Amino acid sequence: MLVLGIESSCDETAAAVVKDGKVVLSNIVFSQIPFHQKFGGVVPEIASRKHLETIISIVREALERAGVSLKDIEGIAVTQGPGLVGSLLVGLSVAKAIAYVYQMPIVGINHLEGHISAVYLEYTPKYSFIALVVSGGHTSLYQVQERGSYRLLGQTRDDAAGEAFDKVARLLNLGYPGGVIIDRLSQQGKADAIQFPRALSLKSSHDFSFSGLKTAVLNYLLSLKTFPEPDEIPDIVASFQEAVVDVLIEKTFQAAGELKCPSIVVTGGVAANTRLREKMEERGKEDGIAVFIPSHNLCTDNAAMIAVAGNYYLEKGWHAPLSLNALSRWPL
Ligand code: KG4
Ligand code: ZN
Repeated sequence: MLVLGIESSCDETAAAVVKDGKVVLSNIVFSQIPFHQKFGGVVPEIASRKHLETIISIVREALERAGVSLKDIEGIAVTQGPGLVGSLLVGLSVAKAIAYVYQMPIVGINHLEGHISAVYLEYTPKYSFIALVVSGGHTSLYQVQERGSYRLLGQTRDDAAGEAFDKVARLLNLGYPGGVIIDRLSQQGKADAIQFPRALSLKSSHDFSFSGLKTAVLNYLLSLKTFPEPDEIPDIVASFQEAVVDVLIEKTFQAAGELKCPSIVVTGGVAANTRLREKMEERGKEDGIAVFIPSHNLCTDNAAMIAVAGNYYLEKGWHAPLSLNALSRWPL
């Protein structure tokens, strides 16, 4: 089955063609970062306008790269939520128009299910597995019992992990988005230079909290007499990153241990983080739990993951009416 995936929930306009939920024929991502950078975060108005300007050419490029035309496509999977409504609506409108004109089935996909489904493109994790979805908007732990069956174990009570990266980068004037910049700078720093707090005390639950850590970084900066010199930044960000990574690892393995899950899947933009990937894999070996982390370009927002998730429902013959609408909130 040939599925066209469309993703426009935040600041990436993306389209992909995936065969049988497994083979990526094309995966095109247009990042709007340069347009939001000077504002230090995503500006919803700008995001929807840029989606509008680019989506047709991105879909066209995805089809061309895959060497197919719309007549060959057998179903459309589009991100329905959660995300910015104005952004989601652009992808949904294009998807619905194609579905209507070509009389093909369409399914609305939960962005978080998309992130988790990215793993199936490269791996076959054993069920039930623990999925940690770490992105700019979410930090959530699920027990995935089988394809399409998700049990939410815990989530962040305040900031998402990616949001914490972005906010700390902003405190240090490092630019936007902060995750990838902190990842790079941390490689020159000492992770044990500063002891930042790890919010592990929410022990009885699988919830996360990162706002205290962000405040601890702010308080540390305020305690310095002057703004840190460029050569002092790597130690600060490496120590911050280590605190985030330690919490994510501890909580994920705690859940896997309690529920006796043989595998762990880590996905979402923050799963592109070098240190998180390294330490997750190390800990997996120590604990005898298989850890699966999709390739970088499949961890960050893309449409191939949406097509994979959609393929599952389309193959079952499920599809949505053309009245499907954007959902800014949509718990998985
Ligand atoms: O999944 P994603 O692309 O979009 C959302 O659904 O939010 O995640 C974006 C988030 C941003 O907060 C970004 O700073 C973070 O992922 N991120 C990273 C890295 N690459 C992206 N965080 C840490 N290390 C990275 N290498
Ligand atoms: Zn995402």
